[in-house]
Amino acid sequence: MRALLVGAGGMGRTWAKNLAESGDAELAAWVDIREGAAAQAAEELALSPEYTGQDIEAAARAVSAEFVVDVTVPEAHKQVTLQALSMGLPVIGEKPMAPSMAEAKEMVRASEQAGKLYMVSQSRRYNASIGGYRKLISQIGELGILNADFFIGAHFGGFRDEMTSPLILDMAIHTFDQARYLSGADPVSVLAEEFNPPWSWYEGDACANAIFEMAGGLRFAYRGSWCSEGLHTSWEGSWRAVGSKGSATWDGADGIRAQVVRQTGGFHSEFDEVAGSPLPVKEGIAGSLEEFLQALRSGSTPQGECHDNIKSLAMVFAVVESSRTSGRVTIEEMMA
Ligand SMILES: NC(=O)c1ccc[n+]([C@@H]2O[C@H](COP(=O)([O-])OP(=O)(O)OC[C@H]3O[C@@H](n4cnc5c(N)ncnc54)[C@H](O)[C@@H]3O)[C@@H](O)[C@H]2O)c1
Repeated sequence: MRALLVGAGGMGRTWAKNLAESGDAELAAWVDIREGAAAQAAEELALSPEYTGQDIEAAARAVSAEFVVDVTVPEAHKQVTLQALSMGLPVIGEKPMAPSMAEAKEMVRASEQAGKLYMVSQSRRYNASIGGYRKLISQIGELGILNADFFIGAHFGGFRDEMTSPLILDMAIHTFDQARYLSGADPVSVLAEEFNPPWSWYEGDACANAIFEMAGGLRFAYRGSWCSEGLHTSWEGSWRAVGSKGSATWDGADGIRAQVVRQTGGFHSEFDEVAGSPLPVKEGIAGSLEEFLQALRSGSTPQGECHDNIKSLAMVFAVVESSRTSGRVTIEEMMA
């Protein structure tokens, strides 16, 4: 299927390669708001889209595009998505859906009105180890506790150093969405605190603790920091799940294990050690592209479909609001 790629920055280039390498899609057109940026990126990557330029509508018509890939900055996601949908084109866009809940809700409505798919590519769902961990979690009974630690000292420089909530707004959407994927539970409410240690090189709050209540009573506890030097966790986070029949951990790499109760009765129960193994999947944005194209062909609902993905986004803004007000915030009020 013929793709119109919008955005020729760092991630746009990664998407261009992704489209070019996919057997099922082709990079037909590439645009960026900056003059010459798409043509230059195509040349550097030795790719030859039929059209490069700055105008989405002109590009879509010139190549008879069948879908749009939005890899612009979050502030432009709404404009690009609404324009594509109004032309009757389905959209796969980068995370986060939008920089505010109001904009995200407008995008969901636009998808409904156009009757076209709008999917957010949450690339960290497409990972062999998280698939293996999810399978192991299904063996520990009813899930009651899910914990994620994310501790990385990231010296980006640039815009993140000046954001008010760099960790929560730019990164935590991945971890929150992973929690929904692993538990199969939707968020209900959160109590959270963002903060910034004295040594932090960020102006805004680069750390947060958040306790989510999820549907069914599960508690998901998130502890995160982008200004922690040493003993980094994986970018996938470090996880512990506790269920009625045992516990399962994942180090965010290939360390997946569980202890499942074999016999109760003593002070400690006796356990079977169960090793998890990665599930073969197409990783990252190759996986999300494959699921998007499959959905276009079959009419199935993909992961990251906007009505679902907005729940992960609501977790982000609920944390910011809870931290601001020092009180519990419900997801219902974020979605209203
Ligand atoms: N999934 C991941 O792991 C991952 C990793 C990095 C970035 N991202 C996401 O990808 C998106 C892009 O990030 P990036 O690092 O490539 O940013 P970037 O700033 O390098 O590139 C963004 C590009 O969009 C262009 N642009 C802005 N407004 C536009 C508009 N209205 N029309 C056309 N082009 C426009 C800019 O000129 C720029 O070239 C962001 O949403 C980011 O969060 C995701």
